[in-house]
Amino acid sequence: MMPKPIVIETRHLRKVYAVNRQPTVALDDVSFEIPEGSFVSLVGPSGCGKSTLLQILAGLVSSTTGEVLVDGEPVTEPMPGKITIVFQDSTLLPWKTVTENILFPLEIQGVPAAERAARATEMLALVGLTDFRDRHPHELSGGMRQRVSIARGLAQHPRIMLMDEPFGALDEQTRLKMGHELLRIWEATGKTIFLITHSLTEALFLSDVVLVMSHRPGRIVGVINAGLPRPRTYDMVGSPEFGAARNEMWHLISADETGEGLAEL
Ligand SMILES: Nc1ncnc2c1ncn2[C@@H]1O[C@H](COP(=O)(O)OP(=O)(O)OP(=O)(O)O)[C@@H](O)[C@H]1O
Ligand SMILES: [Mg+2]
Repeated sequence: MMPKPIVIETRHLRKVYAVNRQPTVALDDVSFEIPEGSFVSLVGPSGCGKSTLLQILAGLVSSTTGEVLVDGEPVTEPMPGKITIVFQDSTLLPWKTVTENILFPLEIQGVPAAERAARATEMLALVGLTDFRDRHPHELSGGMRQRVSIARGLAQHPRIMLMDEPFGALDEQTRLKMGHELLRIWEATGKTIFLITHSLTEALFLSDVVLVMSHRPGRIVGVINAGLPRPRTYDMVGSPEFGAARNEMWHLISADETGEGLAEL
């Protein structure tokens, strides 16, 4: 089989924030590659620079040195048709219905009306919310709102979906279901997914590869190959292989630091 092309590549990324002349090194020498169509997660202690990295990948924030290449091209600005982002709190417009929320970015991008409608219908079906298309966000559960965010992102036909703690605000059961949903959507669409999560279990359960980041300044201290067969089943979480990989991640994170930030992991 031909190796998959690399869709995202970071080279020696470093990010220094300066607030009142006080420098904070958020990222240091971060280099990795993500093959097309893969599911990659990023875990690390709170404040280690994960969201900063995601914003740099998305072209929302610039790195201090180093670069990000998407399809071999340096990222210098957001690319809504190529990369979409799903945040922890679904950033839906409260006065618009579910359908209108999905249509809105497409209107801004100038997608023709018939095409917009067709994409919204398709994505609503994909995330299982066709019956809720005329509701407003406050009439939905947290998990449903996140599914609308995912549908809104996918309707833009991106190649890459970046997700920053998308299920962080959900209870454990809903979170688990959303993980399964996400895998189903990923398998149906073949998108490349880059997911930030505090949950080591979630990262391993969903991903092909988990990147482990150190305490600030964030560096990649480990690349864990999840190595579990697909489709994933919840029974796998109890397997010795799963436990061993999870332990390895935990040791990589905790060996690195005093434990600051681990409480929130
Ligand atoms: N816009 C900013 N200006 C100044 N400092 C910032 C800015 N954004 C983030 N930082 C700092 O950079 C560091 C990394 O922040 P970041 O939000 O990337 O961490 P994180 O890994 O996403 O944390 P969490 O898991 O809590 O979401 C922190 O010390 C933070 O204070
Ligand atoms: Mg963050």
